[in-house]
Parts: sequence; structure tokens; C-alpha cells
Amino acid sequence: MSAAAAAPQPPRQIKLDPQSELRVEVLPDAPLRVRLISGTAEIFGTELPPEGWVPVPPRSKIAIFTWHGATVELDGVCESEYTSDETPMVIYVNTHAILDARRGAARAATAQGGDLQASQGPRVIVVGPSDSGKSTLCKMLLSWAAKQGWKPTYVDLDIGQGSITIPGCISATPIEKPIDIVDGIPLEMPLAYFYGHPNPSISPDVYKALMKELAQTLETQFSGNAESRAAGMIINTMGWVEGLGYELLLNAIETFKADVVLVLGQEKLWKILKDAVRSKTNINVIKLHKSEGVVPRNSKYRQKARSSRIKEYFYGIANDLAPHSNIVNFSDVSVYKIGSGHQAPRSALPIGAEPVADPTRLVAVNISTDMVHTVLAVSYAKEPDEIISRLSPSYSSSGT
Ligand SMILES: Nc1ncnc2c1ncn2[C@@H]1O[C@H](COP(=O)(O)OP(=O)(O)OP(=O)(O)O)[C@@H](O)[C@H]1O
Ligand SMILES: [Mg+2]
Repeated sequence: MSAAAAAPQPPRQIKLDPQSELRVEVLPDAPLRVRLISGTAEIFGTELPPEGWVPVPPRSKIAIFTWHGATVELDGVCESEYTSDETPMVIYVNTHAILDARRGAARAATAQGGDLQASQGPRVIVVGPSDSGKSTLCKMLLSWAAKQGWKPTYVDLDIGQGSITIPGCISATPIEKPIDIVDGIPLEMPLAYFYGHPNPSISPDVYKALMKELAQTLETQFSGNAESRAAGMIINTMGWVEGLGYELLLNAIETFKADVVLVLGQEKLWKILKDAVRSKTNINVIKLHKSEGVVPRNSKYRQKARSSRIKEYFYGIANDLAPHSNIVNFSDVSVYKIGSGHQAPRSALPIGAEPVADPTRLVAVNISTDMVHTVLAVSYAKEPDEIISRLSPSYSSSGT
């Protein structure tokens, strides 16, 4: 590994053998760009253009992989850069090929007037512990599918490190072309539900309720769009796979009717999930190797990444958006909190009944200085009780 933090590095050309990759970590504030000199290469499923420099976003950790051999040039300082010829890419692309065949079968079934089940393409959920490469595998599967003309739906259930819109959301969006190396997931048409916290354990029932809403909306969209139904879904999840985290994974598999579960990097999770869905013959639970290139990120890094995603949401990736403030009267807005309903007192309940808090109850919130610098979702609901189903897709930052 050649690492030279912040010391100037001259532009350098690197020759990559077939099926090897150049792994690069970019510093938070030093620009890095890459270009293809010869051959073909891709970054997480998206091909490098044959000509021109591609800027690599600060703080990113990427692999430039080549199937048939390539020479690339790097310009800028890296935190680390090294090449490796041990990658799980062949297994990943074989997985893609199987999914692709299923999409083809679904499309053929649609043409022959097959039922809803037969014309449904694969609903893939990617699970695994933190830093096992889930988000990266999702990107590759989506980009490879888009390259072949499919428009799969990307569903991101990771409220902590989500790649669509702002942290704290679960969301979905169709992927129509390979994911842009710089801009990431396209944000033109996201369907987003605001949970409002990076941790699902704060209110797991609200998290489940939002998953259900998202799944139902997608189901409706699929029923009117045979092409996107045949292309199926790629569902990304968070790295919490124990206890409640595991329970939420099972819930996600059921809610989105996932039929392919890709388990990355943990044999135990694969085994437990396989046993858990044994009674359902139509679910395949597949174990995949984790790439040794995946870079573990500590909580400080994650916190920073979250903050920069919030900033990016308002100011744009290239800092080219200018959010402007709108001043409204307190009396013109109503603010609600979901899921903090107080339990009914025992005295108000029939004898023997246990008080249960309604996890998705709405509580009106008084606007106060405590709300300064919090992000609220703007709902299009006409009535408060519609709020939970209409929490998409725009936000306002209070206190700014
Ligand atoms: N082959 C590779 N070479 C270099 N970096 C990689 C490689 N694969 C993944 N990475 C990087 O490693 C980091 C972690 O990967 P990724 O985000 O896919 O993990 P994850 O399982 O989704 O993590 P989390 O549990 O936090 O969601 C990312 O910054 C990603 O870009
Ligand atoms: Mg992830």
C-alpha cells in the first residue's frame, strides 16, 4: 500500500490486470480525479468514460475494477491506494446474471398474459452486518441491470447511511441508467418517507409503519407498470442484524415480499435467516462473500457522512444550490410528532387490561426554541391523520 497523507503526489498511471481492482481512499478535502487511458474499467458497476477526467468525491472509498485489463491515471492526493486481484466480482456478476434471467422470465410471462406472481421480477434484499459492502453491492446490481435496459426500483431502508435524499428517511426510486460516479443515486423521482432519526430503535413501530406505506405505494405502482414490475427491486438495509435489528430485517423481507435474500459476510446470519424462512419455498437465501476492499467506518465518520449528506441535500453536491428561507407565522403551521403518544392511565382502562401506547399516534408539538436546527418533513396531508402516509417528499429545516 502506498499511503502518503497530504504530501503532494504527481499524476500516476496504473496498469490493472484483468479482474483486478485499484482501491482508493480519498481525503476529506484534497481533490482527486481519475481517467481511463486504455481498456475498460468500472467503479461499482458504472463504466469509466473512455475519455476525460472523472472527479472522485471527497471522503469516498472506491474500487476501479477491470474485467479485461485497463490502464488508469490518478491525479491528486489519496489517503491510500493499492491494487488487488482478489475480489468477489465474478460471484457478484453471476448473481446479477441469475437476477437478469428472472427479469427476462417475468417479462415473457407478462407478454403471455401471466398472473401477477409470474410477471413479478426478482425482489432482492441485501442484508449483512455493518461494513460488509451492502450499499456497494446494491449499486453494482442496479447499474448492471440498468446497463441492460432494465429500470429496477432501488429501495433504501437504511435511515442512518441512506443514499437517497436525506438521512432519517426510507425511500425508493427507479434506476434508469447506471448510477453516476459523482452524482450518485438520481433524486428526480424519489418516494421518501421521513422517519426523522438515524436510529430505528427509537421508534421501531413507526419504522415498520413507514415500511408498510412504502411497500404498498410500490405495489400500486407495479400493478400499473409491467416493465418496472418485471425489473423488480433491490432493497438495501442497515447493518444492524442482532436483536431488534434482526426482527426488522425479517419484517422488511415480509413487507416487501422479498424473494431473494443476499447475505453478505456473515455465515451465522445466513443460517438463521435460511431457517427462519424455511417454510416459504419461494424465498432463496444466498450467502455471498464480502469484498476485502470494503473499508470499515467508525461512528465519527458515519456522523460526518450524515452531516455532509444533510448539507448536500440543501446546497447540492457541487455546492451549487442556494436554499432560501421562507418566513411563516407560527399560527400558519402545525407541527406534529409521530409515535410519542402517552399511554392511557390504568384507571381509564377495563380491569385487567394493560395500557398500550399507540406507536403511530400523532401528538401536536408546541413550537419552541428546542426545535432550532431540527429538520422537519413538510407533509401534503390535508388532515393530521393522513400525515404518516404522506411524509414525502420535501423537507424544511426549522430555525434557519
Ligand atoms: N472493493 C472495494 N474497494 C474499496 N472500497 C470499497 C470496496 N467495496 C466497498 N468499498 C467502500 O467501503 C465502504 C463500506 O462499504 P458499504 O457502504 O457498501 O458497506 P455497507 O455494508 O453498506 O455499510 P453500512 O452497514 O454502514 O451500510 C464504502 O465507503 C464503500 O465505498
Ligand atoms: Mg450501507
